[in-house]
Amino acid sequence: MAILLCLLPLLLVLTLTTTGTHATSKPNIILIISDDQDLHLGSLSYMPNVQSSIISSGLLSTSHFGPTPLCCPARATLLRGQTAHNTNITHVGPPGGAYRKFLNSGQMDSYLPVWLQEAGYRTGYLGKFMNGFNSRTPEPPGWDEQDLLTAPWIYDFNHVVMRRNGEKPVEYPGWHQTDVLRMKALALVEKFTEEDGEAKPFYLEIAPVSPHVRLGGFPTVPLERHKNYFPGVGAPRMPNWNPPDYLHQGKPGWVGELEQMSDDVIEMVDKSMRARLQGLQGVDEIVDDVVELLEKKGLLENTYIIYTTDNGFHLGQHRVPGGKGLPYISDVNLPFAVRGPGISNRVSATPQSHVDIAPTLLDIAGLPQEDWPEFFDGRSLLPEWQSASDEEALLTNHAVLREEINVEYWGSSTAPAGPYTKHYQENSHKSLRLVAQGGKHGWLFNKWCMGNFTELYDTVADPYELHNLAMKPDKETKRLMSRLSGLLLVTKSCGMDTCRTPWSVLAEAYRNSAMTGPQPVLQVPLLENTFGTLDQAMHSSYDDFFAQLPSPGFQFCLNYQSTSNEGPYFPPESEDLGRRFRRAEASIESTEGMYYTTNGTLYVESNPDEYFGDAQQRHASIDELHAIARTLTNEEMGFEVKIEGCNAPDSACWELFEDD
Ligand SMILES: *[C@@H]1O[C@H](CO)[C@@H](O)[C@H](O)[C@H]1NC(C)=O
Ligand SMILES: *[C@@H]1O[C@H](CO)[C@@H](O)[C@H](O)[C@H]1NC(C)=O
Ligand SMILES: *[C@@H]1O[C@H](CO)[C@@H](O)[C@H](O)[C@H]1NC(C)=O
Repeated sequence: MAILLCLLPLLLVLTLTTTGTHATSKPNIILIISDDQDLHLGSLSYMPNVQSSIISSGLLSTSHFGPTPLCCPARATLLRGQTAHNTNITHVGPPGGAYRKFLNSGQMDSYLPVWLQEAGYRTGYLGKFMNGFNSRTPEPPGWDEQDLLTAPWIYDFNHVVMRRNGEKPVEYPGWHQTDVLRMKALALVEKFTEEDGEAKPFYLEIAPVSPHVRLGGFPTVPLERHKNYFPGVGAPRMPNWNPPDYLHQGKPGWVGELEQMSDDVIEMVDKSMRARLQGLQGVDEIVDDVVELLEKKGLLENTYIIYTTDNGFHLGQHRVPGGKGLPYISDVNLPFAVRGPGISNRVSATPQSHVDIAPTLLDIAGLPQEDWPEFFDGRSLLPEWQSASDEEALLTNHAVLREEINVEYWGSSTAPAGPYTKHYQENSHKSLRLVAQGGKHGWLFNKWCMGNFTELYDTVADPYELHNLAMKPDKETKRLMSRLSGLLLVTKSCGMDTCRTPWSVLAEAYRNSAMTGPQPVLQVPLLENTFGTLDQAMHSSYDDFFAQLPSPGFQFCLNYQSTSNEGPYFPPESEDLGRRFRRAEASIESTEGMYYTTNGTLYVESNPDEYFGDAQQRHASIDELHAIARTLTNEEMGFEVKIEGCNAPDSACWELFEDD
C-alpha cells in the first residue's frame, strides 16, 4: 500500500505529460460507413446533419469510387488498402468471400486497426463488420472495443443481436438497430475519452446497416419516429430511369434482356426510395449526436470525421429495379465527405477510391511511411484533402493524382425489389473508368463475362451511360478502345505501384517490346517513348503497339476469381494477385448463418410492420438499453443443433450446424 501511495504522484505526472503532448499531435478518427447508400439518387441531401456538421465544414468529394460494388469486397478493400483481386474477397458468400475467408486468409493479422494500434491509437468497431460473422465465429483481431451485428440477425432491423468483444450474443428487444448503434457509439466515445483522458487518440468505425434492404430484398425498415417522412417522394426520374428500347439496346446480358419496369414494379421502387431516405434519418442522428458530444468535450477540432458507404445503389436505372454490382455510375460513385484538421470547406472532383482510405488514415495517424505495409494499392489522400482547391492539389501533389479507376466484380448479383426480387447468376465484369481533372474527358469501358460483351460510354457527353459506343465503333473509337483495353489489361490485376501508375507498365512494354505470349515485331517509330495519360497514349505512333495487345476477359463465367480463367497477366508477375501477402488456403463452404437459424430452417424475420425507435428512445440513456439487454441461450445462438440423445450438461451437447 505504501509503495502504491508513493508511486501515485509519479503516475499522475506521467499521465499529465502524455496528455499534453499527444492531444495536439494525434487527431482522433471516426469513420461512419452506411450500407448501400447512393450518391446519384440524392440521398445526401436528405441528411441535414451530414450536411451541416460534415459537408459544410469539410470536403465533399464528387469523385469518390468504390472499386467493387458489393459489401464484403468493399469492406475488405477498405480495411486492407488493396483491390479485391488482391484480397481475393470477391463476394458476400462462399467461395468468393465473407468474414471467415478474410479471417482464414490471415489478412486480419495486418490490417487497418492493427496498424492504427501500432500508431498509438485505441480502436473501436460498431455495427456490421462482414457477412458471415455469427455467434460462433472468432472475433476479428485489432479492436480494443468491438460490438458487432451478428448473423442471421444482421439485416433484421427490429431484432438486434450483437456480440461485444467476442462474447456471447446479446439481444436488445424493443429497439431498432440504428438507435442501438447510436447509443453505443456515444458510450464508446465517452469511454475512449474518459478512460485515459485524451492521452491516447482513438479510431472509431461506426457501420449501420441502413439503408440496406431486409433479407429477401424488401425495403429497409426505418425507425418509428421517421416512418412517415417524405410522403410522395419517389426514385428520381433521371434520363437513365426505365429507358425505352432505343436507349437500352447497348446493355449486356441479363440487364439487356430486362423489360421496362411495370407500374407495379415502379410503385415498389418508389417505396424503396422512401424507405431508404427514412432509414437514413437514424444514421443522420448518429452523426448529429457524435458531433455534438465531441464538441461538448472540446474534441471536435482535433477529430477527422469521414462519412461514406461501402458501395452505391441503383433504383430503376437501366430498367434494374434495385441493387448494386453494376459498373454504372450509380453503383460505384459514392457519397464521401470528410472534416478535420487542415481541411477547408470545398467540393473536390479529384478521383479517389476506397483503396486510398487505409494509407490516408495511416498518414493522419502519423505512422511513418516505412512502417506501412508494402502491399497498398492506393495512396494517401491527405495532401489532396488538405489542399485549398483541386488546382492547388494538382500543382503541389501532382504525383498522387491519377485519372483511372479500376472496378471489378465476380459472380451473382441480386436486384432487390420486394416481391419482384430477382437473382442473376452471372454478373462478372472488369471495368475501367477514366475521370479526368476538370471534366476534360471521361470514359467507362466494361468487359463483361456474359457474352464477351463490351461497353464504352463517353461519360462527359453521356453522363447517364445510355449510348454504348462499342456497338458500332468508328476508326477513332477503335483507337480509343485499344488504349482502354490495354490499360484494363494492367488495372484488372495490378498490385501496388502498377495500380498507382498503370500507364507506366504499358510505356515500358512499348519501349522494350517485351510482351508475354507471341511477340510481334513492333513497327512503330520511337517518338517520345513514353505516355502517362490517355491523351499522350492516343498519339498515332502507338497505334500498332496497342492494337497487338491481348484483350482482357474471362474464359468461363465463374462465381469466384480463378487465376487461369482471367489471363493474360500484364506484367506477368501480377499473376500473383496478392498471394504473397496472405494465406492461399482460405476457401470456405458455408454461408455461416446468413439465412439459416438454429434448426436449419430459413431465418424468419421479425414483423416489418412493427416499428421501434419512437421519440422517447431518441433521448433514452444507455442504462435503459442495458436494462433490457439479454444474453442469448446456446439454442438461440443459432447454428447449433443439439446432438441427438446427448445428455451431457451445457454446451457439450451442441455442435455447429453447417448449412449448404
Ligand atoms: C470470350 O472470347 C474468347 C476469345 O474468343 C474466348 O476464348 C472465351 O472463352 C470467351 N469467353 C466466354 C465466357 O465466352
Ligand atoms: C481466390 O479464391 C478462390 C475461391 O476460394 C480460389 O479458388 C482462388 O484460387 C483464389 N485466388 C487467389 C488468387 O488467391
Ligand atoms: C426452427 O426454429 C425457428 C426459429 O427458432 C422456429 O420458428 C421453427 O418453428 C423451428 N422449426 C422446427 C422444424 O423446429
